[in-house]
Amino acid sequence: MALSRVGKILRSSGWRIVTRPDVLYNRWLNERELAARAEFVRSAPSKIEIEITNRCNLSCRHCIRSKPGFEAWLGDISLDDFQKLLRQFPRTLTLTLTGFGEMMVHPRFLDIVASARQILPHANILGYTNGLLINQTVDAEDLVRSGIGQVHFSLDAATAETYQTVRCSPKFDQVIAAIRSVLDARRRLHSSRPFVGINFTMMNENFREAPDYVRLGAELGVDYIARPALIMTAWGYADGAKRITKAEMVDVLLQTRRAAEETRAPMALDGYMRDPADYFAHYDDNRKESFRTCFFLWNHIQIDPFGNLKLCCAHPAASIHSWGNLLETPFSEIWNSERLRTARRSLVRGIPPARACVETCLRPDPEFAD
Ligand SMILES: C[S@@+](CC[C@H](N)C(=O)[O-])C[C@H]1O[C@@H](n2cnc3c(N)ncnc32)[C@H](O)[C@@H]1O
Ligand code: SF4
Ligand code: SF4
Repeated sequence: MALSRVGKILRSSGWRIVTRPDVLYNRWLNERELAARAEFVRSAPSKIEIEITNRCNLSCRHCIRSKPGFEAWLGDISLDDFQKLLRQFPRTLTLTLTGFGEMMVHPRFLDIVASARQILPHANILGYTNGLLINQTVDAEDLVRSGIGQVHFSLDAATAETYQTVRCSPKFDQVIAAIRSVLDARRRLHSSRPFVGINFTMMNENFREAPDYVRLGAELGVDYIARPALIMTAWGYADGAKRITKAEMVDVLLQTRRAAEETRAPMALDGYMRDPADYFAHYDDNRKESFRTCFFLWNHIQIDPFGNLKLCCAHPAASIHSWGNLLETPFSEIWNSERLRTARRSLVRGIPPARACVETCLRPDPEFAD
């Protein structure tokens, strides 16, 4: 394992990780098996996402949950089932408590975090949130005390007007206040946790605000500003609207990059942020093959509130695809089941592993106007 990786693990898991050589060995093996595209996987996935609820207090314009025809069984996981699931993954390094839904809507959100901390003391526990329930149902200081390692706030706007258009809510100022209050609570409690990030999904209605989103993050003093994300078109756009041109996208990303450099914002300038013009010049070709880089069948899994093992986040619900139910069948059986091994074999041969992958991974995201 590269030294930089070890440093990253130490930063997010803390010193406790040195008492768990089995976790570190699993991580090493998991990476090797992913690199080798092994058909039979002996290691457990290093990253798991448990969607503790798929209910939400918003209905954002771009969200897969809000699309007509999106059928999910909606509900919350019970604390008991959450613990049953988690005990199947003692060597997990990263646990995310979100999928499609708002984690803080779960009535026992703080108990879930506390339970995760207890079962996986070495793990980095994190979640994505719209932030609107902070200081409403979840007190900012309680959030800090819960031991959650990272909280990432989804903004998708740099102004109240655009927030209203995209997130269909007039509460932009309330999210900004929530971010400030978590940062303040962390300072007051002399806590190093949680690491606070913001993110922004680009779409026709908001992409021009990406540079201001970076400036806003720098002004708030957050720890991490995610690079503006490209929307997943297949599920994300019900109207099939064509997007902006590639040239417009490149121009905005260059302005965003400049804003990050000028403000010294904590944003990684990698991937399409490194050289947007070059990236988008080869975009169509790269997309055709993108499913080949899939890691979900090896080291990153997603579980819905009912215990179903889903594909990646391109597949929002187990009603579209499930590999099995982890509350009924032990993970060890599902992980190397005939279905999963066939899927891994397919991927190695250049065939998308499941029908749902054809509908998502193989379609361009975003779709440009040219
Ligand atoms: C699905 S939400 C769940 C967590 C929480 N409710 C929130 O809004 O952050 C996680 C992230 O996915 C993003 N997202 C939603 N729909 C998307 C889509 N169609 N394409 C790409 N990202 C999307 C959201 O903007 C958000 O940043
Ligand atoms: S993006 Fe998040 S807040 Fe918005 S509807 Fe989807 S899950 Fe809810
Ligand atoms: S859509 Fe399928 S192939 Fe693509 S990343 Fe997700 S699981 Fe992997």
